[in-house]
Amino acid sequence: MMIDKDLRQFLEKIMAYANRTGIAFITGNIYGGLAGFWDYGPVGVEIKNKIKEAWWNKWVRNRDDIVGYEGAIITHPKVWEASGHLSSFNDPLIFCQGKCKKKHRLDHLIIDSVNVKEEGIVVEELSIENLEKIVVDKNLKCPECKGDLGKPITFNLMFSTRVGPVQDTSSIAYMRPENAQLIFSGFKNVTDSTRVKMPFGIAHSGIVFRNEISPRNFLFRVREYELMEFEYFTNPEKTNECPYFDDIADYEINIYSRSEQIQKFDEDYVTMTVRDAWDKKIFKNLWQAYWLSLFGKWFIEELGINEKRLRFRQHLESELSHYALDTWDLEYHYPFGWKELMGCANRTQYDLEQHQKFSKTKLQFTEQVEGGVNRYIPYVVAEPSVGLGRILLTVITEGYTEEEVKGRKRVVLKIHPKLAPFDAAVFPLQKKDNVSKKAKEIFQNLRTEGFVVDFDVSGSIGKRYRRHDEIGTPFCITIDFETLNDNCVTIRNRDTMNQTRIPISNLSEELYRNQREYQVQ
Ligand code: GAP
Repeated sequence: MMIDKDLRQFLEKIMAYANRTGIAFITGNIYGGLAGFWDYGPVGVEIKNKIKEAWWNKWVRNRDDIVGYEGAIITHPKVWEASGHLSSFNDPLIFCQGKCKKKHRLDHLIIDSVNVKEEGIVVEELSIENLEKIVVDKNLKCPECKGDLGKPITFNLMFSTRVGPVQDTSSIAYMRPENAQLIFSGFKNVTDSTRVKMPFGIAHSGIVFRNEISPRNFLFRVREYELMEFEYFTNPEKTNECPYFDDIADYEINIYSRSEQIQKFDEDYVTMTVRDAWDKKIFKNLWQAYWLSLFGKWFIEELGINEKRLRFRQHLESELSHYALDTWDLEYHYPFGWKELMGCANRTQYDLEQHQKFSKTKLQFTEQVEGGVNRYIPYVVAEPSVGLGRILLTVITEGYTEEEVKGRKRVVLKIHPKLAPFDAAVFPLQKKDNVSKKAKEIFQNLRTEGFVVDFDVSGSIGKRYRRHDEIGTPFCITIDFETLNDNCVTIRNRDTMNQTRIPISNLSEELYRNQREYQVQ
C-alpha cells in the first residue's frame, strides 16, 4: 500500500516516525521544546553526515575548479552592513490584538487564509502596504483566536549577540544568516593563498541562524540549520562562457519559468532539455543553467529524489533578493506543496563591490594575459545554496514507504544506500558462543573496511529485520551454524526482501555494488 504523499497528514506521520526512530527531536523537549531548533538523534546524525559528505565530495573534492572555505559564525559586524543584511533581511510581521497575542508572518498568513490562486494574488510581489490592504479588505483575523490583527511591520531576521564583557552598542555582533558573506569577505584570503584560476568556485558548509517569525513544517523552516553553498566566479566579460555546458545540455528538466507563472498561474511544469531551455532564452545565464541542471541530476540520481517531484522555478522579479539579477529554485513537491529545496542566484558583482567599498580593500582578481595583466572584480554567475536539514527532510519524505507483507504493515525507508544510517546490520542467529564470535568477526571486518555497521542481537530475526527496514539499512547479514562450516552468510535486501547465501569474502563487494547500481524506484 503506497501512501498518498500529497496528504498533509503525511508530514505528521513523518514527524512521529522521525521521533520514534531517532532521526530528529525538537530541542529541549523535556522542557516543552524551543520552536525552530532541532536536535538530531543517532539515526538522523548519520544520515545528515552522509548527505553532507556526499555534497562536499561531489562539489568540492571531485571538482578541479572549486575550493573550500570555512568562516567564523560571528564575523565583523561591518560584513552585514556591507552585504545589506542589516537593512534588507526582513520579513513582514503582524501581531494578533485579540486574546492570544500571537505573532504571524503576514505573507504566510495570507496564503493560508485567502485563495490566492483563484484571486490572482502573488504575495511575493506585494509591498508591506499592499499586504496590509489585503488584511483590511478581506477582514482577515488571527488564525489562532480569530482576534483582530494589528498594523504589520518589517522584522529583521538576524540574531544579534554581544562580544566581550562591555555591553554597549560597539559590542553588538551577529550570528551569520548565510555563509556566502564569509566567502566574499574571505575572497582575498583564498586568491592570495592559492593558485585558483578563473572561472572557479569557493564552497562553504556551516551552521547559520535566522530568527524566522514562524518556523514550521518540521525541518523545513527552522531557526538554526546547516547551509551548504558555493559562489561561482567568472570574468565579468565572460559570464556566458561555460566550457562544460555540453556535458549536461541533453539532460531533461522540469521547468516552471517566470512567464509560465504569470500567464497560466497554475502549478505545472514543462519538461525540456537544458539546451532547449537555453535556446528559448528561458535561462539568462549559461553557467546558471549548467549548475542548476547538474544539481537536479545529483538530487535525482545520487540522492534518490523522484524526478516528477522536482522542478526548476524561476523567481518573479519582485521576489528577487536585493543582490540578485536572476534566481531559480529547485522545488520539491512536499506534503505541504511545491516549496524551495535549493536556490541558485546570479549575484553579479554586487557583494564583492560592496565589500570593496566598505572595507576600502581592493577585491580584484589579477590575471596574466597576453601583453600584460588584467584586473577585475569577479562576477558571481551562480550560487547553488541548500539547507542540509531540508535535504534530509526531502530524502526521508521521498523514502518513507508503508507496505503490506503477509497481512502485516511494514515501514521501510527506501533511501539511497549511500545515505543510509548503516551500510549493513549483522545478526547472529543464535547467541551461542561460536556463532556470535563469528558474527562479531564479520562485523569488525566490515567496520575496518570503512562501512558503518550495526550489530543487533535483540529480539527475533523478524523484529531485527523490521527495525532495520524502518531506518533504511540496505542489507541485513545473518550468521548461523552453517556459516561455521561453509563460510557463507545470508544477506537480505531491504527493498526486495530477497535472501541469498553468499561467501563472506564477497560481502564488501556486494555492499559496494548495491551502492553503485542502486536505482530509484
Ligand atoms: N546565500 C543564499 C541564501 O542563503 P536562501 O534562499 O535564503 O539563500 C538557501 O537560503 C537555502 O537554505 C534554501 O534553498 C533552503 O534550502 C535553506 N533554507 C533557507 N531558509 C531556511 C530555514 N529557515 N530553515 C531551513 N532551511 C532553510
